[in-house]
Amino acid sequence: MPLQLPADLSTRPTPFYLYDLGLLNRTLEAARAAAQAHDIQVHYALKANSNAPILALVQQHGFGADCVSGNEVQRALDSGFAPDHVVFAGVGKSDAEIIRALDADIWCFNVESAPELAIVDELAGARGRRARVALRLNPNVDARTHHYITTGLEANKFGINMTDLPQVMELLERLPNVELVGLHVHIGSQITDLSVFETLAGRVNELQQWFEHRGTRLPHLNVGGGLGVDYQAPDAHLVPDFARYFGIFGRLLQRRPGQQVHVELGRALVAQCGTLVSRVLYVKESQQTRFAILDAGMTELIRPALYQSYHRIENLTSPGPERLYDVVGPICESSDTFGRQVALPETRRGDVVVLRTAGAYGEVMSSGYNLRDKAAAVYLGGA
Ligand code: LLP
Repeated sequence: MPLQLPADLSTRPTPFYLYDLGLLNRTLEAARAAAQAHDIQVHYALKANSNAPILALVQQHGFGADCVSGNEVQRALDSGFAPDHVVFAGVGKSDAEIIRALDADIWCFNVESAPELAIVDELAGARGRRARVALRLNPNVDARTHHYITTGLEANKFGINMTDLPQVMELLERLPNVELVGLHVHIGSQITDLSVFETLAGRVNELQQWFEHRGTRLPHLNVGGGLGVDYQAPDAHLVPDFARYFGIFGRLLQRRPGQQVHVELGRALVAQCGTLVSRVLYVKESQQTRFAILDAGMTELIRPALYQSYHRIENLTSPGPERLYDVVGPICESSDTFGRQVALPETRRGDVVVLRTAGAYGEVMSSGYNLRDKAAAVYLGGA
């Protein structure tokens, strides 16, 4: 069933992002309940979508914030996340960003290398503080997703490889201003084969044993994010299967008494609540191809161009018989293509065409290329 657009939105200038806060609320509620059943904390990865109304709802559900820049840390704090629910991750934190997070006394820095650890120690010492750190380890688990969004293999830039871990631990023991509070892994995004998380849980158990053999107890295990969503059939799975996802970690992680476990989900929480709404500017029939040229392009949703990802495309205006279209944007790049040979009802200039499942990594990855205007965000419903 195609999405229904409320009548008062059908005259609005396009393109715009439409967020269904009612659906977001249901999704957050489902995630919260499933996580709570296994005593797992959820941190929301702001990078997926950092719009204020979305963050406000996420925060109201008691989630923490997973941030990857000084500005994300600031946005989380401004949105009401308590500093002790904020984590700062990322492979290239600048000194200014680290200082800002130290001054805010956030819960933890996820550290990705020995040089970074030394800098966090130095900057913390200079401010008379002790920074809590978790080591991001590279668990060498294949997420079986697109290679651009795979992060847990040794060939990726992320995390500390097991071969380097002994030296990092030696360094850690020598540094007075950092305190190890846990380990962190994140192996990739849009993971739909959930057996990958079973493998990950087993690997985290091994990593934990490695630390315990050295006499190091870890109060905290952070198993990252990555739960995928159904881009093909969004209406069939508007809310992801959180019970199954959290069940895997609840069942398989060998948890020590009092140990906290947390996940950092982005996409699974916000992808389905967002839709990119556009209008057809022209239908152009060439000898081989019929193009539907939209007023939205890769500047509003870059995922198809960057990862060849699929977003379901629906024409909300036309009821006509289906034909095949290459659905493209107005940007001067051939990769500005949302889909090839897409079956749509007979499409005309002015028809409203939407791209579904655009709530995560849509608006946050938008750009002003071709001096495009920034598309508005419109919110439907509420808590
Ligand atoms: N934790 C870390 C350390 C991450 O790097 C990420 C995402 C997450 C958590 C959240 O992952 P999620 O639950 O959203 O899968 N722009 C790409 C996705 C990049 C993901 C980057 N890291 C896309 O549009 O598919």
